[in-house]
Amino acid sequence: MNKWSFPLVLLIAPALVMAGGAPTNSGSVPAEVTEGRQIYEQYCAACHGWQGEGAADWNKPDEKGEMPPPPHDETGHTWRHSDAMLFRMIAEGWRHPFNKTDRLTMPAFEDILTDQEIQSVINYLKTLWTEDQRRYQQNESQE
Ligand code: HEC
Repeated sequence: MNKWSFPLVLLIAPALVMAGGAPTNSGSVPAEVTEGRQIYEQYCAACHGWQGEGAADWNKPDEKGEMPPPPHDETGHTWRHSDAMLFRMIAEGWRHPFNKTDRLTMPAFEDILTDQEIQSVINYLKTLWTEDQRRYQQNESQE
């Protein structure tokens, strides 16, 4: 072993661990966001995508006249809704008023998740947005 390789490993290994961790945020991730990510993967990812990328062609109605699951990342419009609105959409479910069917295409989670779990998943969604979007959404939530 040459005398330089040991300190180099010490420097590089932690950097690799961090790069493999959370996909968006650098630095430390609060426990609540980690919990939110787990809830997201278990209950939301199947429809909204593993990275919150949404369904393909999410912005036009499908063959039934229903809107497909939209993205939650910066390409979607989740960040335009206040905390209270997001909470309601997740707890009570949601369908676009223009959908041709009556069913809730976004299922209600109030019997499945606790209020606190819904809040954690909302906090996780916030990590998928840009700094500007987070600021906009924070303002919306204060009204
Ligand atoms: C069975 C598929 C499905 C699952 C599971 C699901 N969603 Fe949805 N979600 C949808 C669909 C479809 C829409 C769009 C409804 C519409 O616009 O008609 C939607 C819309 C939303 C919206 C509104 C977005 C916007 O910008 O208008 C939010 C927020 C949301 N979902 C969050 C969640 C969260 C959080 C979970 C997990 C706890 C979840 N969804 C699980 C299908 C799903």
